Amino acid sequence: MPFLFAALFHLLWHAHQVTASSPVNSTHRSQQAYSHSLLANGVARTPPMGWNSWNHFHCDIDEKTIKSTADAIVSTGLARLGYKYVNLDDCWAEGERDNVGNLRAKASTFPSGIKALADYVHSKGLKLGIYADAGKRTCSNKMPGSLGHEYQDAKNFAEWGVDYLKYDNCYNDGSKPQTRYAAMSRALRNAGRLILFSLCEWGQEDPAKWASSYGHSWRTTGDINDTWASITSIADSNNIWGRYAGPGRWNDPDMLEVGNGGMNIEEYRSHFSIWALMKAPLLIGCDVRSASKETLTILGNKEVIDVNQDSLGVQGRKIRSNGGLEVWAGPLSGKRVVVVFWNRSQARAIISVKWREIGLSPSTLVAVRDLWKHSFVSMNKRYRMGAYVAGHACKMYIMIPVRG
Ligand code: GLA
Repeated sequence: MPFLFAALFHLLWHAHQVTASSPVNSTHRSQQAYSHSLLANGVARTPPMGWNSWNHFHCDIDEKTIKSTADAIVSTGLARLGYKYVNLDDCWAEGERDNVGNLRAKASTFPSGIKALADYVHSKGLKLGIYADAGKRTCSNKMPGSLGHEYQDAKNFAEWGVDYLKYDNCYNDGSKPQTRYAAMSRALRNAGRLILFSLCEWGQEDPAKWASSYGHSWRTTGDINDTWASITSIADSNNIWGRYAGPGRWNDPDMLEVGNGGMNIEEYRSHFSIWALMKAPLLIGCDVRSASKETLTILGNKEVIDVNQDSLGVQGRKIRSNGGLEVWAGPLSGKRVVVVFWNRSQARAIISVKWREIGLSPSTLVAVRDLWKHSFVSMNKRYRMGAYVAGHACKMYIMIPVRG
């Protein structure tokens, strides 16, 4: 009886929440309905994967570079592994709008226009992303922002065949990002094409708390750079927001630096492993056309990619840190658990974990898969495991309960 009463109360309370709508509530609900309909169409059900021009090329982009990158994403096999978005960043447009207010591709670098580029990218089985800004100018100050032009720009993007929009925050008018990002979200919803919406307001107004009503991912930090200091501090900042992530709504700790030359192979492996575990969008940021074998081996590690793309969509988190010896972990589908031992210190050291720290009972018999060695680990203990990890390196495992 008390249970029945509680259930009834719950139902009534829920009904009250749903009917007590204010204009704010109904906008919020229709936005969520929008995100859900995109989800139903498979948009961002798992973290977006692809490439973006900024980290390597900055403003030095043109259609030849983008097309040959699309070719390389296919010929290297990265496309087959799920890297499907080819994303233009800043500097693709002329410095001013045309006489009817449209953004236009920069004639000297994108003479064939964005529609032709989208057609090319689509012909390769890939998708095209573009970049705009929720202020008066983009961050380079080399092209106009979209503030006050949201409908016009979204309509053009849709007509050109764009599949993804990264929306930056420079030269804004000081108004709340919630308002400016909602405007573009509405414009995209009305534009007649499924467009993944990636918010880039650098984590300034705690976007994890509100951005999932408007888009599919949101930056949680300032810009990444190709250094160890950058990836460690960004990982920690992004970690705080873990519980807000899920299918269709992802924390974005910024694009990958793997292959850009500023870190060693173990550091890049750590960067990629932790981004994958945190369910970050995996957007390659190097020149894929000249990527080394080592770089492609990191970006192409299917077992690590599978962790990122796991259907459960739960962001893994840091569970322990002791003098730079860290354990990160998170649940995966099928009651499996992903674990990363991350050694942030300079010297080789042992890192270990007990089953009960990662939600497994000590009596569970576990098969442990090493995702960088591509082999099973032979176990001598039942309730814990440890391993030597070199300085700045990591080990990444999936614990697969067998019985218990
Ligand atoms: C901002 C963004 C970066 C990049 C640049 C382009 O700094 O955070 O990711 O898009 O602008 O100018």
